[in-house]
Amino acid sequence: MSIQLHIHSSREAAIRIVAQEIASLVRNKPEAVLGLATGSTPIPLYQELVRLHREEGLSFRHVTTFNLDEYQGLDRSHPESYWNFMHRHFFDHIDIPAANIHLPGSRVAEADMLSHCMAYEEAIRAAGGIDYQILGIGRTGHIGFNEPGSPADSVTRCIHLDAITREDAAPSFGGLDQVPTSAITMGCGTILSARTITLMAFGEGKAEIVRKALREPITDQVSASFLQNHPAASFQLDLGAASAL
Ligand code: GLP
Repeated sequence: MSIQLHIHSSREAAIRIVAQEIASLVRNKPEAVLGLATGSTPIPLYQELVRLHREEGLSFRHVTTFNLDEYQGLDRSHPESYWNFMHRHFFDHIDIPAANIHLPGSRVAEADMLSHCMAYEEAIRAAGGIDYQILGIGRTGHIGFNEPGSPADSVTRCIHLDAITREDAAPSFGGLDQVPTSAITMGCGTILSARTITLMAFGEGKAEIVRKALREPITDQVSASFLQNHPAASFQLDLGAASAL
């Protein structure tokens, strides 16, 4: 197993390291391609990158981004859409051109789904592939929205959300019945094609799924376990998330 494990004294310490990695990538390669994630975990990372932009002149003018996933059936302006999330927490506060930002659509018609997903894959390829992919981890062990059963070579597609995932999202949507039932997600294969991958997990609530992803045999029941085989993947954990290892 080549995966690197970094256990930090605090979430803030982990965030600083990841932000510095991204900053030095972008300084060395201004046209870097970043794979971005949503959820509560990366919010402080985006705050730190915004700080580096404002205070230390870190420019995203030539950076291209691809987000992992997007709910289906919401307007982009919906507060819980990932398009909205990413603009609110990150894009609105940096100098990235709108044309360099990519997220899957949030209201893709069934008839257009395959071509939409193939076009997303093609756009990643045309940009030169993802240099640095940020990940969180869901309670089902998913990366992006690759729920249990997602094959290692899966590509961008529409996926039915697991009951646990929808339950976890219910409070922010104001009730389970408000949570979309499906999403478009990069596949495990799409994610594993990134040159460098950093999974962040904080808090004891993540300890058990982090243990499964790192310490149990690779299985499509825990898509994060596929990272064990990636040549340049790391887990950045705080003490809580590492407490079951
Ligand atoms: C959602 C996102 C994932 C994220 C997960 C965990 O399912 N699609 O990308 O990793 O939530 O979210 P949190 O960071 O809030 O625990």
